[in-house]
Amino acid sequence: MTRTWQTAPAVGHPLTRIEGLDKVTGHARYAGDIALPGLVHGWVVPATVARGRVRALDVGAALAMPGVLAVLHRENAPRLADIGEGTLFLFQNDRVPHHGAPVALVIADTPERAREAAERIRVDYFEEPHDVLFRPDHPGLYEPDHVNPRLPTVTDKGDVDAALAGAAVLVDGEYRTPAQHNNAMEPHSSTAAWAERRVTVFTSTQHAFGTARTLTRLFGFDPGTVHVVSEHVGGGFGNKGLPRPDVVLAVMAATLVGRPVRVTLTRPQLFALTGYRTPTAQRVRLGADADGRLVALEHRAASQTSTLLEFTEQSASYSRAMYASGNLRTSHRVVALDVPTPRWMRAPGEAPGSFGLESAMDELAEACGVDPVELRLRNDTGTEPESGLPFSSRRLADCLREGARRFGWAGRDPRPAARRDGRWWRGTGVAGAHYPARTAPTVAHATALRDGGYVVRVGAADIGTGARTALTQLAADALEVPVDQVRLLVGDSDFGLAQVAGGSMGTASWSWPVMTACHDLARRLASGEPIPPDGLTSTFDSTEAVGARRDVARYAFGAHFAEVAVDVATGEVRVPRLTGVYAVGRVVNPLTARSQLVGGMTMGLSCALLEESMMDAGTGDFLNHNLADYHVATNADVRDLDVAFVDDPDDELNPAGVKGLGEIGIVGVPAAIANAMWHATGVRQRELPINPARAAL
Ligand code: MOS
Repeated sequence: MTRTWQTAPAVGHPLTRIEGLDKVTGHARYAGDIALPGLVHGWVVPATVARGRVRALDVGAALAMPGVLAVLHRENAPRLADIGEGTLFLFQNDRVPHHGAPVALVIADTPERAREAAERIRVDYFEEPHDVLFRPDHPGLYEPDHVNPRLPTVTDKGDVDAALAGAAVLVDGEYRTPAQHNNAMEPHSSTAAWAERRVTVFTSTQHAFGTARTLTRLFGFDPGTVHVVSEHVGGGFGNKGLPRPDVVLAVMAATLVGRPVRVTLTRPQLFALTGYRTPTAQRVRLGADADGRLVALEHRAASQTSTLLEFTEQSASYSRAMYASGNLRTSHRVVALDVPTPRWMRAPGEAPGSFGLESAMDELAEACGVDPVELRLRNDTGTEPESGLPFSSRRLADCLREGARRFGWAGRDPRPAARRDGRWWRGTGVAGAHYPARTAPTVAHATALRDGGYVVRVGAADIGTGARTALTQLAADALEVPVDQVRLLVGDSDFGLAQVAGGSMGTASWSWPVMTACHDLARRLASGEPIPPDGLTSTFDSTEAVGARRDVARYAFGAHFAEVAVDVATGEVRVPRLTGVYAVGRVVNPLTARSQLVGGMTMGLSCALLEESMMDAGTGDFLNHNLADYHVATNADVRDLDVAFVDDPDDELNPAGVKGLGEIGIVGVPAAIANAMWHATGVRQRELPINPARAAL
């Protein structure tokens, strides 16, 4: 394939995805597409009770079926080390932790035969009473030792109670968000194949290196035994950030039958086995002076986890960094239920937490009679409210002002329920946004070849974001060559230490060693160093450099503006316009960056109006575990999405000046829409999703 596009510098240009043609012509191979000789297929047998133990497993009928090689279960499964990853500790005991947990895996020559045999397996259970419904007053709620990603559970600065008691204006709101599932287009799929004491695993993951590391510890393998390959990934949104049962089952099964085994999960199985966003209940109390300046902010969040693993969504952490308040308290509680394990889903913490705080800020604006954009500007701050650290850069105010200008906010009539247009009530709303700008250690290798080409290897993952393209641009500029001279390889655990494609820190983390290794290689070539037959390679590990940075607060900022139209009769909500303005450090590729933000805003819209995983109290199953019943926003729901950037030069980040922009697009969008709902109808929407039943007047 030739690419005609070339210019220098490459960074800042809207280069189309390097693998785009391969993807749209079907040449790109996803994990479930890899052809291997002798490949057989595993099919999960899910538990049909929510809690209990397996009393007996009758696999006789399944084993007698044509094409069936084996049934994997607790009596023949390889032993695993208990590494504190309960969701992966499969077939090690007879416990059923939740509905849909694997109790066996059928291995057959085709997926169809494996599936048919799986349905013939008879499982008898000792059933126990189960508890699967989250509620904010659940007696089992407790304060965990820390919250995701190892943040403190509680922070408490100043005297919140005294400040609230003395405040001129008070807001006290309870906000609820439902369980939501990540639902990438490509389901989780893993294929494991042993050859010469090494197991190669083709899997759909945001983190090949981390998957290899976890499998090595879990199975007690010698270092170097596991090789994880993940060239293309059809979406992740967090639930491919860590290994899931499919990868463990594939390795177990390949070990048992001595042939390559593929395990692909079905959409309903994804709902039980790969993670989801916990439901949350949040209480936000704001105290302010008469002009709307905060004197006290308290944000308390409750969420659920499973009995397999303690995962606590950091929803209240959003309030630690957003608006100035001398008195600031945040806290979290969690309850362990007999449910599938909630994990990362795009902007964990910030996405639900921003619904709480940014909704409460709108209520404060109403209470003080201050414009909601102006209120946020009044509560802007130069230092991180909780820590007191300076921000590396914080251009929230510029995002708010530029967003207001683009959206046409000026002259907005603040009165609620004052704009009726035929059958539609109309309104507009705003919310701020931030997302941490993290950078983490990674290794990269840059190689000059004798034919004039360059190969750069880094254990990154391109989950559809355009990461491969952005890294190629950064590498080309560092080497001072056109982009089509650089081949950038990702998705391979053998490339060494790498950061997950998650937490919006992928490009920020991977670019550091990529650029440094490329600079070093260019210097060596310029000094006349000869290229050996297998190429001249420079390697860089950013661990030390990342650790040596100054202690400052690093965040991307943004502002979201929404217009809604609410059908007076049916409660149908439409969002004709969304505007997002972002300060995200350097924009390496404006085309793929915009796509990330359009995707995030769409997910925010989807979260505001549609997405809700419904837990069935009787079975412990998510009832709407398919894309017919679990509604995700489609093109028809998305109208005018406007994305813009404000300049955000920031040299306290990483050599690329990148803050990351995968997640900030979702943060604040549900609140902007809920705030617009109030403006349209005069009714506060404190619970998501704002479906017709909730929106009906
Ligand atoms: Mo994101 S939830 O860190 O993939």
